[in-house]
Amino acid sequence: MARQTVADGVVSLELAASSGESLPPWQPGAHIDVVLPTGVTRQYSLCGPVKDTARWRVAVLREPDGRGGSQWIHDHLVEGGELRVRGPRNNFPLRPAARYLFVGGGIGITPLLPMIAEAEATGAEWSLLYGGRTRASMAFLPELEGYGERVTVRPQDQYGLLDLAGYLGDPDPSALVYCCGPAGLIDAVEAHCAGWPTGALNVERFAAAAVRQPADDEAEQPIEVELRASGTTLTVPPGLSVLKAVEQAGVPVLSSCEEGICGSCETSVLEGEVDHRDSLLTDDERAANDTMLICVSRARGRRLVLNL
Ligand code: FES
Repeated sequence: MARQTVADGVVSLELAASSGESLPPWQPGAHIDVVLPTGVTRQYSLCGPVKDTARWRVAVLREPDGRGGSQWIHDHLVEGGELRVRGPRNNFPLRPAARYLFVGGGIGITPLLPMIAEAEATGAEWSLLYGGRTRASMAFLPELEGYGERVTVRPQDQYGLLDLAGYLGDPDPSALVYCCGPAGLIDAVEAHCAGWPTGALNVERFAAAAVRQPADDEAEQPIEVELRASGTTLTVPPGLSVLKAVEQAGVPVLSSCEEGICGSCETSVLEGEVDHRDSLLTDDERAANDTMLICVSRARGRRLVLNL
């Protein structure tokens, strides 16, 4: 593992397999789970060249108000140190398009870097609007400035809030919008893209979006969850997640963020209607009702049957 400071509060880590073997392939938008010795698991987007199978690059912003993962990396992970990682996994794939409008906020630039490289390689038309608090806090500027006028860098202390209306313009059926950054930026981009074709906007959140709370007349009820493959049925009381109930029943299941943003706990639904409370699935995926993120989502009725 090699580390380098790439902006105020941001370190870039280059990870290679301790065995010296090649790393698994990945596509732009993919992230890895970093499992820290403290027991915390955090997701970081891969932001180096896709073709480099010898090392993976991620960038970590120190988040003083976070759950301690980024602080541990900043304070304790030294050059040459070891990290446990899982993945890669991709919840934010780059779909083919003639034109891409990328919007990055702060450390949200990371998944966009390999997307930009891919868009450039395929000859697509693309541009990037990159915002951050100050220029010094914005990582990878030298790398991005090599792309010339396609990249617009707008530190907030010089320019104020990003001019999304001017940048995104009118809905363009040939274009896809990819945005990653803080919740306020994503919400603003979502509002601007409300009139765009379904699926044109693709976002990745670091933190869970505001979750629908049950109305007073539908106060949380216990639900019955059948784990068909295990032949077990559980009662999940209000206040306990389906994920925790499944774990307590001794059925192994992957999880990481426990906030409905990383996708690792995604589980097939065989019966029952899901009350989706995640920040990851698309509207179409929700409507299909055949998958759910069991760390946060529950049932609309009293019963679910899961393929676990
Ligand atoms: S654990 Fe991350 S979405 Fe459920």
